[in-house]
Amino acid sequence: MPHSPSREKPSTVNRLSSARLATSLFASTFATHPKVVASAPGRVNLIGEHTDYNGGPVLPVALERRTAVAARLAERWAFISGTEDGLQEAEIDGPMRRGWTDYLVGVARELRTLRAAPPGAEIAIATTLPIGAGLSSSAALTVATAKALSLLAGKRLSAAALVEVAFRAEYHQVGVRCGRMDQTIAAHGQRGSALLFDTATGTLRQVPFRGRLWIVETGVSHRLTGGALNQRRHECEEALGFCREWRPGLEHLAQLSLRDLPEIGRRLPPPLVPRVRHVITETARTRSAADALTAGDLSRLGRLLVEGHESLRVDYESTIPEADFIVASAVDHGAYGARLTGAGWGGAVVVLAPASREARIMAEIQGDFKRRFGRAAAVWRTRASAGVRRETIPD
Ligand code: GLA
Repeated sequence: MPHSPSREKPSTVNRLSSARLATSLFASTFATHPKVVASAPGRVNLIGEHTDYNGGPVLPVALERRTAVAARLAERWAFISGTEDGLQEAEIDGPMRRGWTDYLVGVARELRTLRAAPPGAEIAIATTLPIGAGLSSSAALTVATAKALSLLAGKRLSAAALVEVAFRAEYHQVGVRCGRMDQTIAAHGQRGSALLFDTATGTLRQVPFRGRLWIVETGVSHRLTGGALNQRRHECEEALGFCREWRPGLEHLAQLSLRDLPEIGRRLPPPLVPRVRHVITETARTRSAADALTAGDLSRLGRLLVEGHESLRVDYESTIPEADFIVASAVDHGAYGARLTGAGWGGAVVVLAPASREARIMAEIQGDFKRRFGRAAAVWRTRASAGVRRETIPD
């Protein structure tokens, strides 16, 4: 439901309610209490878009909004979700259905290879995240499910193991050619910090960030499976192949630098050149953004966000007019910066605004959006929150 910034509820209500909602959905569906409840956050990526599958850095933040999974051992696999219709039963070894239950089946299959899956489970899912809004509801679901099911099986997996299970479920079982950013922040997020994740080395660095971020949903849903993300990833792999002809040892596109662009322009088919340019410039921007955040220089961070959006619009061609409009409106009204976050082709814009003026700026953006598109944009705020955790079962 769209709502104005001033009516935004404190986020703790959202956090509590996903566990509460999952527990009560479980009780009303299966007429008993769950044994385990786990939850994981969605994420907003501050900057570092489409770099995670190119060996570059990313700088995501875990949202206060979460997905909770309530589960209990059973002889069957049965799932219910607060956002989808009806109880679904599934065979773990049966064919995938091209629907939301594939994510759960994928996690169960991956856990089984680690001997960390229960033989069966009844599962109820609830979320306070918008679905298909570029805020990684899928990684919140897979990471929370991996945590809940492994606990049910009596195993305590590390955060790194949960990332791997969730990533493999999405990449290998569901077939989305994602990188590891979303699962990594869902598992390793910390309250009050953004996470600088260097995807080439796997290094994680928490960068303190105590401020607030605003999310403006474009209302245009994106579906990743089989879509444009897979196509872009394929283009990047093709580009890497061309680059290796002249740089044989090259492992990732993010290892290239601006100085390589003339050679790239000569060697690559023209449509691939801007894709590589985005990866190179975004890699540099993300490192600068981490420095700016560390130094508390929010003006500089904001400028980098806007430059990042421009690069997505012009070079990566992953933005949509609604997002371009929101970014322009945010800048016009005095935000530090804004950009489309997540895979793109729909989803949400992240806005960084001076605390003293943020409510007014967000109201102006909402007004502009309504006038231009004739509908309201949902707007809400978040602080950097915590990663996956076991929840105490609410009464
Ligand atoms: C999706 C993928 C991520 C990442 C982003 C783009 O969210 O799941 O791995 O590639 O797109 O930055």
